Amino acid sequence: MKAEPELLVGLDLGTSKVAVVVAERDERTGEAQIIGVGQAPSYGVRKGLIVNLEQAVNSVRSAVDDARHMVGLSFRHVTVAFSGTDVQSVLTRGMVSLGRTPRPVLEGDVERAIEVAQSELDIASNHSVLHAIPVDFCLDGHSGIDDPLGMTGSRLELELQSLIVPTSTIQNVINCVEKAGLIVDGLVLKPLAAAMGALSTEEAHSGAAVVDVGGGTTGIAVYSEGRPRRLSVIPVGGDHITNDLACVLKIPTSKAEALKREVALDEEEGSLEDLLDLDVRGQKVSFTVGQVAEIVGCRVEEIFETLVGKELSKSGLTMFPAGIVLAGGVAKTGGIDAFVSDVLDLPVRTAPPLDAGRMPPGRNGAEFAASAGVIRYVLQKELKPYRYLEPSSSLLQDRPDHVGPSSVKKTFTKFVADSREADGAIKRFTETLKKSFRELF
Ligand SMILES: Nc1ncnc2c1ncn2[C@@H]1O[C@H](COP(=O)(O)OP(=O)(O)OP(=O)(O)O)[C@@H](O)[C@H]1O
Ligand SMILES: [Mg+2]
Repeated sequence: MKAEPELLVGLDLGTSKVAVVVAERDERTGEAQIIGVGQAPSYGVRKGLIVNLEQAVNSVRSAVDDARHMVGLSFRHVTVAFSGTDVQSVLTRGMVSLGRTPRPVLEGDVERAIEVAQSELDIASNHSVLHAIPVDFCLDGHSGIDDPLGMTGSRLELELQSLIVPTSTIQNVINCVEKAGLIVDGLVLKPLAAAMGALSTEEAHSGAAVVDVGGGTTGIAVYSEGRPRRLSVIPVGGDHITNDLACVLKIPTSKAEALKREVALDEEEGSLEDLLDLDVRGQKVSFTVGQVAEIVGCRVEEIFETLVGKELSKSGLTMFPAGIVLAGGVAKTGGIDAFVSDVLDLPVRTAPPLDAGRMPPGRNGAEFAASAGVIRYVLQKELKPYRYLEPSSSLLQDRPDHVGPSSVKKTFTKFVADSREADGAIKRFTETLKKSFRELF
């Protein structure tokens, strides 16, 4: 009898959608192939955080059912990608002596160096380290060592990237996924998953930032020399663009959502006066392409110039030779790459998942980069366990179902039909937005 295939499953708990990527492992090579992608609209998640447990559980169940139906196989074990609003990315150093006489570095030495680096962390109560990622090893003063195991020296130093999130965020995610009948094998912060899913090895080495703009959050992962230098989550995303359009143009959110997808940020001069007609509760309202694009562009500009720009400088890196790699649903906005490239003065490419060719059509766009990245994360972690430590996995250890060593776990009475009125509203809006961003940051 043919053995059941070993499945690796990544679950992306997003604000707009829950995605479930199923991969099958090849027994001979140990490599994994994506065989299906399930998805369902996400309810009960706002700005990346669970705000209604029951709705979130139902969304997870629907996405899982969709994935099981697609692959025709059942599974319970999942690795979950999630984000929160209060993520801290902290770098500390750890040093251990290997003795006066140089000797080969053992696993225990790396563990001790990681412990020393972790002891430097100041973790607020009710917070947990989600990931501890060594980003640089240094042996006897020589930095840039990829893997120190077996190398000879007398002093081992490392730089540790720790990602600290509120413990309650982690617990709510675990709780939600377990209530949906699944077993959490591991957790991954979404910007890390997005980087894994979208960034080429070459880009990661030369220096780049993956910016995953989803519905409620923007995840940023800054890489250089192949390692993550800073990972952060900003609670602003595509839903803000929709809300801006709804508020400024005084139209329902659902209409704003559709309108936003009809414009590009690189519209030809000649098309800016073209009219976009909407039927809003039986009344015809029209806006020009230029008006809509200006509102969208204003928010996108602020996200990148102010918020992303700030994160790039906090990373301490000044050069991004491979520029910005854009993922997430907002990356599908027409002309966004050239627009962001102008704003940040960096090269920009929009990124379908690296595994897009193996993913089902319609479920392999930029919004699935982080979802597919979960599978790559699991494989990388298996290959190089030291590289991706999950200290928070202790939160998973005592769960009833936990098994296995890998489980280290908006009434609209008046609508704006007059384009001059809309113009004034847009101007006020853009000024207010810019001001509020300046005050905030
Ligand atoms: N073609 C498009 N043009 C512009 N925006 C789009 C397009 N398609 C999707 N979006 C926007 O992308 C966002 C959803 O992106 P995505 O699916 O990556 O979010 P998510 O992963 O569920 O959320 P998050 O990561 O923030 O928790 C929504 O705001 C949606 O309006
Ligand atoms: Mg997302």
